Amino acid sequence: MARAPVCPFSPPPALRGLQAQAPLAKVRLWDGRTAWLVTRQADQRALLGDPRISRDTERPGYPHASVAARERGTVGRTFIGMDDPEHTRLRRMVTGRFAIKRVEAQRPAIQRIVDGLIDRMLAGPKPVDLVQAFALPVPSLVICELLGVPYADHDFFQANSRVLVNRESSAEAAREANGKLLVYLDRLIAEKLADPADDLLSELATGHVKTGELSRREAAVMGVLLLLAGHETTANMIALGTLTLLEHPDQLAALRDADDPKLIAGAVEELLRYLSIIHSGLRRVALADIEIGQQTIRAGDGVVMAIDAGNRDEQAFADPERLDLQRDAGGHMAFGFGVHQCLGQPLARVELQVVYGTLYRRIPSLRLATDLEHVPFKHDGAIYGVYELPVTW
Ligand code: HEM
Repeated sequence: MARAPVCPFSPPPALRGLQAQAPLAKVRLWDGRTAWLVTRQADQRALLGDPRISRDTERPGYPHASVAARERGTVGRTFIGMDDPEHTRLRRMVTGRFAIKRVEAQRPAIQRIVDGLIDRMLAGPKPVDLVQAFALPVPSLVICELLGVPYADHDFFQANSRVLVNRESSAEAAREANGKLLVYLDRLIAEKLADPADDLLSELATGHVKTGELSRREAAVMGVLLLLAGHETTANMIALGTLTLLEHPDQLAALRDADDPKLIAGAVEELLRYLSIIHSGLRRVALADIEIGQQTIRAGDGVVMAIDAGNRDEQAFADPERLDLQRDAGGHMAFGFGVHQCLGQPLARVELQVVYGTLYRRIPSLRLATDLEHVPFKHDGAIYGVYELPVTW
């Protein structure tokens, strides 16, 4: 469903139409199959918390978002595409470094990364593409450090990730990109086995591969997921969030002048709600017949939870179309809900708090160096954002 060109920050009008008239609707997917599209937040929450709903990407009825997503859900399958108990067994192996306390301890290092990149931008020519100069490097540097991936390889892994999160990539291109990343991560795991360091891949290698609990390939697949999820998502929130704020100058000014960690944390939540960058829906398949909202989802039916619509549901948020950095946006589902809720959310939150609390304060005159209609939005991405954001100051 296409977004309205004049409202690039809002979900497609057709999605909102369904929310009002048919909150549980049968829709046709890109591959010709049908699935249920769920647009009300309460229904999404009920279904995502229901054990009769599966995230197993190998089940025949699973509604993959694209050819590339199908590739990753089969060849590159790990715990995000599995049900419990296997999902929890594998997820537990990597949760430690994403725990709130561990992530909070990273805040000063993240602040240094953000300040360093801003220093470089200020010292360089303008206008500058904020995506390349800032939005992509911040989370890439952070996740590289956490995993133990050399940042020098960022061109390689960013280019291949880009193929995997593009809904229009061919099966061949997706297979090739996934294959290259797997070979790369497999080599890193082998290196960590031989010469461990203080990073997550070393923990996986020495704590789980060495003991035989996990194969090297399984560890590599997990590494690909973490590397990809760790930079693609947050990068889009940084660039799209900045563009949104530039288009709402009063709110940007209030945020910039506040110097209040609570207000900044609240602004992060509201921007997560408002933008809901995972815009191709959270996808599941029913394991049994489920009665919901006077409909019956049959066992084997695919289910797509449109969280971008759910986060603009007036039954969940007052005046949902309004960006209001002061509102209590708690309860948004930008990080999902239930057992698969985002593993990296504490990290994403700290990164975004540091970015939103620093960038506009340090560059108060930051502004768009083009017209909004010339900004290339990621309509073809599984994760919404902008490909480029020319800015000046
Ligand atoms: C603003 C940034 C982010 C957003 C909006 C986001 C969003 C999401 C959402 C909606 C899910 C649930 C998928 C589902 O239920 O089908 C998810 C899962 C996941 N996210 Fe994030 N994410 C972000 C950042 C990160 C970061 C920084 C990492 C770090 C590696 C990460 C790693 C993961 C992983 C591993 C899962 C799978 C969890 C599981 O299946 O148990 N994410 N994310």
